[in-house]
Amino acid sequence: MADTPKHLLIIEDEAPLRTAIAEQLSDHGYRVEQAESGEVALSKLADFAFDIIITDLRLPGVDGSAVVEAAVERYPHIIAIVVTGYGTVKDAVEAIKRGAYDFVNKPFQIDELLHVLDSALEQRRLKTENAYLRAQLEERHRFEGIIGKSQPMERLFHLLETVASTNSTILITGETGTGKEVVAQAIHHNSLRRMHRFVALNCNAIPETLLEAELFGHVRGAFTGAIGNRQGRLEQAHKGTLLLDEVGTMSGALQMKLLRVLQEREFERVGDSHTIKVDVRVIAATNSDLGRLVAAGQFREDLFYRLNVIPVQLPPLRERKDDIPLLVHHFLEKFEAARATRPGAKPSERLTVSQEGMRLLMAYHWPGNVRQLENAIERAVAFTAGRSQIDIGDLPVEIQPAKEATLSSIVTLPEDGVDLAALVAKIEQELIQRSLERTRGNKGQAARLLKLKRTTLVEKLKRFSRRNH
Ligand SMILES: Nc1ncnc2c1ncn2[C@@H]1O[C@H](COP(=O)(O)OP(=O)(O)OP(=O)(O)O)[C@@H](O)[C@H]1O
Ligand SMILES: [Mg+2]
Repeated sequence: MADTPKHLLIIEDEAPLRTAIAEQLSDHGYRVEQAESGEVALSKLADFAFDIIITDLRLPGVDGSAVVEAAVERYPHIIAIVVTGYGTVKDAVEAIKRGAYDFVNKPFQIDELLHVLDSALEQRRLKTENAYLRAQLEERHRFEGIIGKSQPMERLFHLLETVASTNSTILITGETGTGKEVVAQAIHHNSLRRMHRFVALNCNAIPETLLEAELFGHVRGAFTGAIGNRQGRLEQAHKGTLLLDEVGTMSGALQMKLLRVLQEREFERVGDSHTIKVDVRVIAATNSDLGRLVAAGQFREDLFYRLNVIPVQLPPLRERKDDIPLLVHHFLEKFEAARATRPGAKPSERLTVSQEGMRLLMAYHWPGNVRQLENAIERAVAFTAGRSQIDIGDLPVEIQPAKEATLSSIVTLPEDGVDLAALVAKIEQELIQRSLERTRGNKGQAARLLKLKRTTLVEKLKRFSRRNH
């Protein structure tokens, strides 16, 4: 049998049979407990996490199936085996549906039962091993969750590898959408703190008065609305990591309190005098230039130095354009997977982006950085319904080459004036025709290209055909 002795509960109302099985299983190394009824079994299960239960199906009171169901619900990895009397195969099937692993028919030889137990234990071992491997893969994937191979990103990975396992405070700066939160999470998951919580607090999203209570917690009656005692984020992150997002927006008073936490690792809940000690790694993030805020007197210099122990700067996407194809591919996979699970989705070929589409994606300056790119791809995937290639028509208008610049060159006002309504109508018709060509006649997509409702587009088409006949 396997290394550690397995704890087994046997549930059988016939005492002689029960003790006989119990003794034989004990001889084979199992730690056996007995229960004479379903009720007794349930109360034993409530107190102890058995590895295995063997239960008779027909029991007075709570029957075997119900015991199996309760046991499996409480301990998903428990092995439940049912013992069936003559003519109760149907009940055994029912028990298996409720989570039993297997059944043995009465009367049985002990070897038969031992064999069933062996194979159940072996299966469970494989299952846990697989789960472990999968978890390890996911763990690694999480670090790879930061996509990038450009030089600045390579440098970032290198830096993260060395700092993740330390306890140092880190200050992440970068424009909106550059991945500050993703990086903070990666640091946490690659540190020894990964078994504990990663807690994020966006200092900009909460009014100043509430922010303090959110961070430090509060006691009952500390302020209007403070109904009970509450743990703050700092306490929640004990032994883990706390991300203070948009740290540049904190008030002076709060900055000072935060400084104390960083220096002493202690604080009080709002309205309380009791000092709480915590072990928290702080990661701060900001999209403003803290150095400039310090110079302008809006951010405490001492706090800045405390936070900026290890500065991590995330470059804007436009400064690492060679990451764009990789990111596009990553997001395509992500949103395709979501699409494939939708009802009625056909197993389509891999989605790709046309060469022209990729050129556009790489030429754009992405003020919203990776988040904006992610949104653009999500939208494009939704638009390509059925097609296997994302085309420029599927990409958001803001990334299309600026039309305003060329507009003035095609719009001229002749000496003797124009018929404005007729000219505008002509331009309208031309644009509608082109959008239909590009979308190969798909009116829904054409309407979207023009930011029109489909019905509006159809109306206009009808009007054109009337005008032209
Ligand atoms: N390098 C990357 N690889 C993969 N996904 C990324 C990467 N960077 C950012 N993302 C994705 O972009 C989105 C925005 O990232 P995140 O929230 O970390 O940005 P942020 O810098 O915290 O933005 P903000 O300043 O607006 O809070 C997320 O959906 C994230 O998964
Ligand atoms: Mg963020």
